[in-house]
Amino acid sequence: MKKKKLIILGSTGSIGQSTVKVLLRHPDRFEVKGLAAYANIDRLEEQYRLFRPDQLCVIDPVRGEELATRLKSEPVEVLFGEEEAIKLAESSSAELIVNAIVGAAGLKASLAAIKSGKSLALANKESLVTGGPLFAPLVKRYGGKILPIDSEHSAIWQALYCGKAEEIRRIIITASGGPFREFPQDRFHEITPEMALDHPTWKMGPKITVDSATLANKGLEVMEAVSLFDITIDQVSVVVHPQSIVHSMVEYVDSSIIAQMSSPDMCLPISYALFWPDRVESEFGQLDPTSMSNLTFEPPNLDKFPALSHAFEAARAGGTAPAIFNAANEEAVSMFLKKGITFTDIADVIKNGLDSIEIVSQPDLNDILEADQAARDLVLQHVG
Ligand SMILES: NC(=O)c1ccc[n+]([C@@H]2O[C@H](COP(=O)([O-])OP(=O)(O)OC[C@H]3O[C@@H](n4cnc5c(N)ncnc54)[C@H](OP(=O)(O)O)[C@@H]3O)[C@@H](O)[C@H]2O)c1
Repeated sequence: MKKKKLIILGSTGSIGQSTVKVLLRHPDRFEVKGLAAYANIDRLEEQYRLFRPDQLCVIDPVRGEELATRLKSEPVEVLFGEEEAIKLAESSSAELIVNAIVGAAGLKASLAAIKSGKSLALANKESLVTGGPLFAPLVKRYGGKILPIDSEHSAIWQALYCGKAEEIRRIIITASGGPFREFPQDRFHEITPEMALDHPTWKMGPKITVDSATLANKGLEVMEAVSLFDITIDQVSVVVHPQSIVHSMVEYVDSSIIAQMSSPDMCLPISYALFWPDRVESEFGQLDPTSMSNLTFEPPNLDKFPALSHAFEAARAGGTAPAIFNAANEEAVSMFLKKGITFTDIADVIKNGLDSIEIVSQPDLNDILEADQAARDLVLQHVG
């Protein structure tokens, strides 16, 4: 069987490493042509030795030089900087790009992959949140395909095979509720980064783990779903499902609800995206139905987790509003992790961005990048 050639951007992170795990189980099905990371050259070197790709890219040039020196006798090209990572996404050596970069930094690479007609296995939800309006016309024009890796969107994608687009009543995105679902709201001022980084069901990178604790992650997923599945924001609901077994659902006009279930293991949605349109034999996420005696669903508490309401507000406003939400959130999370602001400040910072920055309703890439920068500048001014 012909091997699928792929490049992983963000290969050293949580999703990147889960992707590596999937690939190692199927050495006969994939050929890794390139890997990219921000600065973790030790892990990148290990991954190089596993797959021997032709190209490596390190965003941080100093770390990149160091890796190039280490690998100077190896038959590999070591590239540095963001522009080179974008070129990697366009490279004709691969037909599939896995984008596992964290944050809006992944947007340009996603656009580059789609513009070069490739399939894009997308974990970087921030691409679709910030650049939402740009993707659909590019997919149509260049014929590429976006294959979602986010477990919720993978679940929706699978459930969408059960009906036609015009038969969808709504999409129900599940949320674990994060570590503070039952934590008293009057003690939220006590929440430290260490507490927020302790997620009950998923092991993920630090940014998405904090986003899960504020429910900003669910907000990003709501905006991602609107872009990805061409539905309106009024067709999206969120339910809290602490067991993280049902990964999301689609309700059709006849009131049938189709859900996708598995144990929480990102290797499963990654495999689905990599092998699509096929399914392959795999033990990832295997579930014993008799162990599922207690699956619960409840509405999210928007008083406790206002970031989710702000996301619905941003999605309704459209245009550059989701990019403002995302950039303000990224900056706020980074400050919270450095103990510069409190947990509850994160949602306030997002709200301030949405209320203060003018929204462009039909944005091009420049408008989006300007909105992103304006939101980051505002956070710095606001927080000091
Ligand atoms: N983790 C999950 O279970 C999960 C589930 C669903 C969706 N996602 C989404 O997947 C994406 C990645 O999440 P993650 O948890 O894997 O994050 P992570 O563990 O923090 O990994 C991020 C990856 O991106 C690289 N990176 C960081 N900043 C970069 C930049 N400016 N330019 C290029 N590369 C950069 C990192 O390189 P270094 O290692 O060198 O810093 C690392 O390889 C996020 O969008 C997240 O929302 C994650």
